[in-house]
Amino acid sequence: MNLPQLIAPIANDMKAVDAVIRARLDSDVVLIRTIGDYIVGAGGKRMRPAMVLMVAKALGYEGTTHHLLAAVVEFIHTATLLHDDVVDESDMRRGRSTANAVFGNAASVLVGDYLYSRSFEMMVESNSMPAMSVLSAATTVIAEGEVLQLLNVHDPDVSLPRYLQVVRYKTAKLFEAAAQVGAIIGGATPEQETAAASYGRHIGTAFQLIDDVLDYNGDVEALGKNVGDDLREGKPTMPLIRVMEVGSSAQKQLIQDAIRTGEADFEAVARAIHDTDALDFTRRAAIAEAELARTALAAYPASIHQESLLEFCSFAVDRDH
Ligand code: IPE
Ligand code: IPE
Ligand code: MG
Ligand code: MG
Repeated sequence: MNLPQLIAPIANDMKAVDAVIRARLDSDVVLIRTIGDYIVGAGGKRMRPAMVLMVAKALGYEGTTHHLLAAVVEFIHTATLLHDDVVDESDMRRGRSTANAVFGNAASVLVGDYLYSRSFEMMVESNSMPAMSVLSAATTVIAEGEVLQLLNVHDPDVSLPRYLQVVRYKTAKLFEAAAQVGAIIGGATPEQETAAASYGRHIGTAFQLIDDVLDYNGDVEALGKNVGDDLREGKPTMPLIRVMEVGSSAQKQLIQDAIRTGEADFEAVARAIHDTDALDFTRRAAIAEAELARTALAAYPASIHQESLLEFCSFAVDRDH
């Protein structure tokens, strides 16, 4: 199932979320509107807000606060992307030049800050202390993840557990918070809330592992962002860690140097990755995480929304964008 098919059952809610997003980007400061419209207008898959909606609806929720909270989650996500592209010096995102490439680093960082602040204002409006607690804590963890990753860059000794911690913090945490907030707003039992959080954490982990695979074998056109960036940044992701684990001593040396300098011959590294089971190993780890996400959701009553959430597990692994 492709993404539009997956989203179809909540299409009207997604439209409502889009309206909230557009309305809340409105600022008297023109540059904020310009950059906000620029990055939001480029699209994005909107997986995290979709999860907020689907979990709430899987529990029979019929109010409108889920639209507000879904928009909050997308704002937090968008803020992390604005900051991340500055840190990573990326020049392509969502099929167009990054905001930092067009408007500069300072403007990107400041508008990212604006989106964080706006999202906090909006979460207060939800009047749900538990939702606020989950979302504000998640924002802290994402920041910790990006800082942890910064410490790992150019370090070939990063272990699998250290890498996985970064993945959980920088990516999985927001998926976890999205699903958990959907559960809270949907009036979940404590068990259902824990199950939603677990679902989000595992699918988010699978999502990032696949992102790290796609950085080596993805298609720029489909992805809307550059491939090979992780290598250029000297990021020790799972594919590289795996080559160092099972590769020949020459391959191991190649990867170590590549991570240290960030100036590797992409073709040579790609060959080493291809000649070992590195991508397959990473994909298998992602599949295992997606399975755990699926299992967590078994506690939910069968419904079209529960089905969509299960379909998301396949999409997270099979995606090309
Ligand atoms: C990109 O997330 C950042 C990662 C966690 C890898 P998405 O791939 O969900 O980004 P958009 O919103 O669809 O552009
Ligand atoms: C994305 O991280 C940003 C966060 C998860 C906070 P990455 O740097 O790994 O992803 P892309 O490739 O830029 O989307
Ligand atoms: Mg990046
Ligand atoms: Mg990054």
